[in-house]
Amino acid sequence: MHRPDSEATQVASHYARQDLDQELLTALVETGLDLDRLQAADLAPIDEFHVGGRRATLELARQLGLDRSLQVLDVGSGLGGASRCLAAEFGCRVTGIDLSGEYCRVASLLARRLGLDSLVSYRQGNALAMPFEDHSFDLLWTQHAAMNIADKTGLYAEMWRVLKPGGRLAIYDILAGEGGPVHFPVPWARDPAISHLIGPRQLRSLLEGIGFEVVSWQDATERGRDWFRRVGEKIDRDGLPRLGIHLLLGEDFSLMARNQVRNLEEDRIALIEAIVQRPA
Ligand SMILES: C[S@@+](CC[C@H](N)C(=O)[O-])C[C@H]1O[C@@H](n2cnc3c(N)ncnc32)[C@H](O)[C@@H]1O
Repeated sequence: MHRPDSEATQVASHYARQDLDQELLTALVETGLDLDRLQAADLAPIDEFHVGGRRATLELARQLGLDRSLQVLDVGSGLGGASRCLAAEFGCRVTGIDLSGEYCRVASLLARRLGLDSLVSYRQGNALAMPFEDHSFDLLWTQHAAMNIADKTGLYAEMWRVLKPGGRLAIYDILAGEGGPVHFPVPWARDPAISHLIGPRQLRSLLEGIGFEVVSWQDATERGRDWFRRVGEKIDRDGLPRLGIHLLLGEDFSLMARNQVRNLEEDRIALIEAIVQRPA
């Protein structure tokens, strides 16, 4: 049986890095960026921690007709790339929640540097028991966090709880493919202990079982495959860039990236982009 507390500890330790803030700021300076003139997009190589990076965030966001009236919750917000993108590009007010206190701290620091701290804020917490009242948000947003969470019904039921009636949930996630077990390590897990993938049909019926209505459902696997192939080829050709996700995951990110390409090419994982609605 899965014990949520021990799962949370293992997941937090997978993502934990020492002195992350200092390391990121140094890397930004060494790539020639002026820390006093940073734009949200400058941080994308490190804070858009999902297949497709900032482009994938913008693609999903543009389907949602966002505006400044919306109160958004980003579940598993990581270093906050998507939340700051939604705030900077669309004026949304966004709260991020993440298991990692360190990620929340660095996300807040980056928001202050970008002058976005009046629109975004971060809370450390578990997506399975969120510190928010029922019906608090107009839009829930989640990218690449559910892979670390075994209790999918608990996760999406908790999202339903904090979502206003009539509100939408936007999901961009890695799911199980039909090609067999995942090659590890991958960016969300070094071994199967904290990797919990379900297939697209299972996810859809689980969401519908909770009461969500599907607004749109798209397979994004091919786009993700092309993007990760380019990432893998660039690493093979030039080595790891100064600014990149390896700063969060360590040097074995090269192997993770190679495994991601294999997992995508061998249909061991799939990518889904979905918008579902809690009926009014
Ligand atoms: C691959 S990162 C994605 C971060 C961010 N969504 C993005 O796309 O840039 C996965 C994130 O999910 C968070 N996470 C995993 N399990 C969680 C849980 N039970 N509650 C809250 N956050 C969780 C991790 O701490 C990590 O920051």
